[in-house]
Amino acid sequence: MTLLEVENLSTDFVGSDGVARRAVDGLSFRLRRGEALGLVGESGCGKTTAMLSLLRLLPPAGRIAAGAVRFDGDDLMRLSTDALRERRWRDLAIVFQGAMNALNPVRSVGEQIREAILLHRTRPRNEIDRRVGELLELVGIPAWRAAQFPHQYSGGMRQRAMIAMALACDPQLLIADEPTTALDVMVQAQIIELLDQLRRDLNLGLIIVTHDLGVVAELCQHVLVMYGGRLAEYGPVADVFSLPQHPYTQRLLAAFPDLDRPDAHLEGIPGTPPRLSDLPNGCRFHPRCPLAIARCRVEAPPPHQIAAGHVATCHLV
Ligand SMILES: Nc1ncnc2c1ncn2[C@@H]1O[C@H](COP(=O)(O)OP(=O)(O)OP(=O)(O)O)[C@@H](O)[C@H]1O
Ligand SMILES: [Mg+2]
Repeated sequence: MTLLEVENLSTDFVGSDGVARRAVDGLSFRLRRGEALGLVGESGCGKTTAMLSLLRLLPPAGRIAAGAVRFDGDDLMRLSTDALRERRWRDLAIVFQGAMNALNPVRSVGEQIREAILLHRTRPRNEIDRRVGELLELVGIPAWRAAQFPHQYSGGMRQRAMIAMALACDPQLLIADEPTTALDVMVQAQIIELLDQLRRDLNLGLIIVTHDLGVVAELCQHVLVMYGGRLAEYGPVADVFSLPQHPYTQRLLAAFPDLDRPDAHLEGIPGTPPRLSDLPNGCRFHPRCPLAIARCRVEAPPPHQIAAGHVATCHLV
């Protein structure tokens, strides 16, 4: 059953010069209940902006220019601010990029989780204490550690605590923005395992934003590749990773170290992604695309279905 349906989502940032620059452009995808979607693409391609747009939690310069975000029947873009505040955290929650380093150092982890609960829901005091313990144990932290401070937690435990906080109001969808970045490999594997277990146990929809295609391969059923604010490719992980259709996806995969063949030659993608102030015409990837033809420079390809549930945005496929 569809949990989230994003249609034609577009978001601008308005610069100090008053000019609006499009950071997310016409993004559409769906997520089913209990399904994990990996959102990938190089730095600056709009992953975080797209996720903050879903929750309408953009920084002041950000504006949603178009689009519908249907969640459980309602269009979140049309809800009043108050109605949306009600839905946020109860229905969909996010672990922000870098959040594990933003815990308050002078307050215990338990207090901070308690605060997160109280912010969204009123409950009697003893019930809240019990809930804090429950949430910690849900993410694999013994309840007694609620009294400890962030510096007494390892990086992995701080990330677990952030996940516990996001789950405080039993959301149906959890967005995790780079949940394994800056953790060592063993700890990354544990966080992946935790997210996968939560997905299965709670039938949680998951969106994982990551640079690590290995995380997507292990954790996700679907993958969405973004480039220059647009969808480049979307489909089942098995299809997209075995037979990538978009030249950008092909390059991204070729640039990623293969766990089975760590010595294999890696080809970086020459050039850099476009800046918002300087977006190319046509396909945003054409300046870096080895296969680009004249049409790619002038005409933006529309996303089109190339197989069941597999979409690519390229004139050549
Ligand atoms: N507050 C802001 N004001 C203006 N421009 C912004 C703002 N936040 C992001 N941008 C721009 O929007 C584009 C998309 O940024 P975003 O942070 O969404 O990318 P990302 O894919 O999450 O990158 P990363 O992988 O580095 O986290 C970038 O060009 C960025 O410079
Ligand atoms: Mg980001």
